[in-house]
Amino acid sequence: MTYLQWQDRLDTGIGVIDEQHKRIVAYINTLYDVSHQISPRTEELKQIINELMDYTLSHFAFEESLMEQAKFAEFDKHKEKHDKFSDLIHSFQRKFKNGEEITEDLLTLLNNWLFGHILHEDAQYIEIVKEHFNIKNTPSK
Ligand SMILES: [Fe+2]
Repeated sequence: MTYLQWQDRLDTGIGVIDEQHKRIVAYINTLYDVSHQISPRTEELKQIINELMDYTLSHFAFEESLMEQAKFAEFDKHKEKHDKFSDLIHSFQRKFKNGEEITEDLLTLLNNWLFGHILHEDAQYIEIVKEHFNIKNTPSK
């Protein structure tokens, strides 16, 4: 089953960003699948949680570098949102390490956060980044 379905309205028109967002969605779906196996394996869960976290953090860093180069006026505010979310996911990682059952709460958090962030917050930097890098709408795969 697909837990999170990509929707066209989430496309920003910056191909590289859309591909990264889609990859995060794919990680979330894998986390859902792995955690809903009849007997989920801790090692497998650990690996996917770590990969998802690492990828999300490097995606944030990538977005931040684009915003900074494009001199996005709301950079600090956006970075603060990323930092808060990073803290939250790190706390999930810590709990998981301590043997707590966190996958359902983590999935709910990711589910609630990601699309809202793309639609409302990321949307704010898209135009200025496109303008700065002279990006024409590039369809993502
Ligand atoms: Fe963002």
